[in-house]
Amino acid sequence: MPDPVIEVKNVWKSFKTVQAVKGISLTIPRGQFIALLGPNGAGKTTLVEMIEGIQKPDSGEITIMGKHWKGNEDELHRMIGLSLQETRFIDKLRVNETLGLFASFFNLGRERVNEIIKIAGLEEKRKSLVVNLSGGQRQRLAIGIALINTPLILLLDEPTTGLDPNARREIWEILKRLKRESETSMILTTHYMEEAEKLCDYVVIMDNGIILREGTTEQLLAEARNLDDLFVSLTGRRIYE
Ligand SMILES: Nc1ncnc2c1ncn2[C@@H]1O[C@H](COP(=O)(O)OP(=O)(O)OP(=O)(O)O)[C@@H](O)[C@H]1O
Ligand SMILES: [Mg+2]
Repeated sequence: MPDPVIEVKNVWKSFKTVQAVKGISLTIPRGQFIALLGPNGAGKTTLVEMIEGIQKPDSGEITIMGKHWKGNEDELHRMIGLSLQETRFIDKLRVNETLGLFASFFNLGRERVNEIIKIAGLEEKRKSLVVNLSGGQRQRLAIGIALINTPLILLLDEPTTGLDPNARREIWEILKRLKRESETSMILTTHYMEEAEKLCDYVVIMDNGIILREGTTEQLLAEARNLDDLFVSLTGRRIYE
């Protein structure tokens, strides 16, 4: 068993009166794609942001490649590519300029920008202003930015929410290829059970700050016809009422 890339141990987080995350533990090995599923307010973003070092747990422990955030910020930032639940770009920059800006943070040049434009399928939009991109193109740009530094870990918070089925499938193709061609570990939060089934080897179903059920996609699909049905059997409701 290889060392875990991410280890989350009994993590708690509250905001004023809301207990957002209540004692979650998770281990993510190298190369694994994990789906975090759960309805609005389940605590997915809070958990992912703690792993990203954006939020601090009230208690519990998070390590990335065996290291805590405190004192290792620069090193850990270089290992992680992320896209937040809502990505804002600089509207007046073009696609290639936006990628160039992020590339420069890592001392990468035009060559990497061109690779990313290809990976994200944005060849025809390279000179477009970001403000003129469609929702799906914007999300592909966000994933491209997350990948610019060839990260060991990719954290995507609802990368396909609000996209039409075609745009969603285009994002799936980018991520499937990444899975085939790299050892990147990924945590993806989503409301789409099908997305989890299609992309991820491991599924974690959250509600009200706790893990209701987790296992390999295969294990969970052996228990129910699909993840939607499993979710109903766990919670008594559909993810979208
Ligand atoms: N900064 C904050 N201040 C106060 N409450 C917060 C804050 N961030 C999150 N919460 C609360 O914590 C709970 C978990 O929120 P979180 O954003 O983690 O859920 P989520 O699973 O990502 O939901 P969604 O599917 O809607 O994105 C919610 O009740 C939310 O209102
Ligand atoms: Mg969220």
